[in-house]
Amino acid sequence: MKKDLEHMRKTYEKGSLEISSVGNDPLLFFEKWFDQAQSNNSIEEANAFSLSTIGKDGFPKSRIVLLKSYDSDGFVFYTNYNSVKAKDILNSPKVGVSFYWPSLERQVIIKGTAFKVEGDISDKYFNSRPIGSRLGAIVSNQSQVIPNRKILEEKLEYLKKNYKDKSPKRPDNWGGFKISPISYEFWQGRSNRLHDRIIFYDLDEKWTIKRLSP
Ligand SMILES: Cc1cc2nc3c(=O)[nH]c(=O)nc-3n(C[C@H](O)[C@H](O)[C@H](O)COP(=O)(O)O)c2cc1C
Repeated sequence: MKKDLEHMRKTYEKGSLEISSVGNDPLLFFEKWFDQAQSNNSIEEANAFSLSTIGKDGFPKSRIVLLKSYDSDGFVFYTNYNSVKAKDILNSPKVGVSFYWPSLERQVIIKGTAFKVEGDISDKYFNSRPIGSRLGAIVSNQSQVIPNRKILEEKLEYLKKNYKDKSPKRPDNWGGFKISPISYEFWQGRSNRLHDRIIFYDLDEKWTIKRLSP
């Protein structure tokens, strides 16, 4: 079977990027682009990003997770600490992050090092989640093989009854990771595939800014 997709092509013409316009703090520039993505009605879940980790088998694996906060120390997402991604990170903390905001014709690629956030930060976020999400996190041994869906639903029903009058505590195996960036690459689509790419990378604790060929 062969499906020909060679005709799939789009022209990018919504913006441009100059070194003179990105400033000298990549986090501030990220914030500017993130705010524009978040307020753009055609972008759902502007905070969704692809997270790539390196497995013990040497293969990278990418999957989508949701950015839940960011500050000058890094970018935070939450997950199960026994999941494939968490085991990968605990074994090899170098990760790749990419955001793609199609209707702005923009991509941001971040390389960084991930580490577990403090328990009280994870507690605070866990306790802010709707009850269904909290119970779901308890139910799921994320990334484990299970025989069927029914066992999840039965466990959820059991927990719903059990926690009818009390609040579930964050399980020890669930919490946040923070990614501390070493480089940011900002990509703006342009016509004729001559896209703009501006990279910030950490050199001797100072951001160096360069233009890359598309
Ligand atoms: C839009 C979207 C958002 C997601 N957000 C998260 C998240 O924040 N945390 C998480 O652990 N999984 C999230 N997932 C599920 C992951 O993509 C993935 O299936 C799961 O974390 C297991 O990955 P792993 O087995 O590689 O660890 C999300 C999936 C999608 C499509």
